[in-house]
Amino acid sequence: MRVLVTGGAGYIGSVVTAQLLAAGHEVVVVDDLSTGHQDAVPPGAVFHELSTASLDPVLGSWAIDAVIHFAARSLVGESITEPSAYWRNNVSGTLALLDSMRAHGVGSIVFSSSAATYGQAVEQPIREDAPARPTSAYGRSKLAVDMALTDYATAYGIGAVSLRYFNVAGALRTPSGGYGERHTTETHLIPNALRAVDGGPPLQLFGADYPTDDGTCVRDYIHVVDLGDAHLRALGVVEPAAHHVVNLGSGAGYSVRQVLTAVGEVTGEEVPVIEAPRRPGDPPVLVASNAAAAQLLGWRPERDLNRMVADAWEFHRFGRAAG
Ligand code: UFG
Repeated sequence: MRVLVTGGAGYIGSVVTAQLLAAGHEVVVVDDLSTGHQDAVPPGAVFHELSTASLDPVLGSWAIDAVIHFAARSLVGESITEPSAYWRNNVSGTLALLDSMRAHGVGSIVFSSSAATYGQAVEQPIREDAPARPTSAYGRSKLAVDMALTDYATAYGIGAVSLRYFNVAGALRTPSGGYGERHTTETHLIPNALRAVDGGPPLQLFGADYPTDDGTCVRDYIHVVDLGDAHLRALGVVEPAAHHVVNLGSGAGYSVRQVLTAVGEVTGEEVPVIEAPRRPGDPPVLVASNAAAAQLLGWRPERDLNRMVADAWEFHRFGRAAG
């Protein structure tokens, strides 16, 4: 299959591109490099520095069978202070992509959605039919695209699968380093904890007074390689005129303190921690039901939290050695 990957120079996009190539697919990557890194695009993929909004003049000549659409702004906090960037990139950019796909007869899309579409869910684990009450412009932008996909499937016959990610972590390791998180502004727990162990600033623990067993927030962590595997499976279940929405999580929750314990076990160093106030917008618990992923995709995550931390640590250390 010839697959167009938007955002293939980013964290998850680069991992999935490498997995697609390993599975024998041809891959065309587009990325405007606003947050991605060109050297993260796996060798073997054709790369174009382009935004999704400017694809229309060229898409028709690429003979694309399916699109996996990652390109987006993805920081919850930033989306609250800078919503315009989120509505423009994530919503307008995707609508432009969908209309180009229609114009050029590309009928299949796998979309990078988010658990942020649910917001503060009442029932855990969260099923796909839970009420969507996003608490940020980021979550609302992802939900808006999910809604558009339903309408485009019904009216125009496109086939779509929205994958709602929970907390993605880890790296795809290769002898030359691999593909992992390299965000300029890093807000995620595991990379920040690894940086703290490695001589960086102490980890700020945002809130120890939540109504959970140890007072810290509980999240559902998923290894990026397992997540990528679900994308390849999703390509195989896209069907015309249908839009499926599927959670990708492990079904198990870990508190911030449990994650820090795992980081300590893997690195052999206790994580330096400073207790800080709650971070605005953090719900106490977010855990996925992954029953739909098992049923539709035949998918189950295989790599546990310690493996995520170990792969992220190796990737971090390789990057440090490479300078
Ligand atoms: N945390 C800290 N210190 C840090 C970073 C995080 O204590 O330096 C805590 C957070 O407060 C939260 C937990 O660790 O309780 C996890 O935080 P992350 O930032 O790693 O992840 P989030 O759960 O906030 O966000 C993730 C994705 C989002 C997605 C969201 C769905 O990164 O894209 O899940 O709710 F929208």
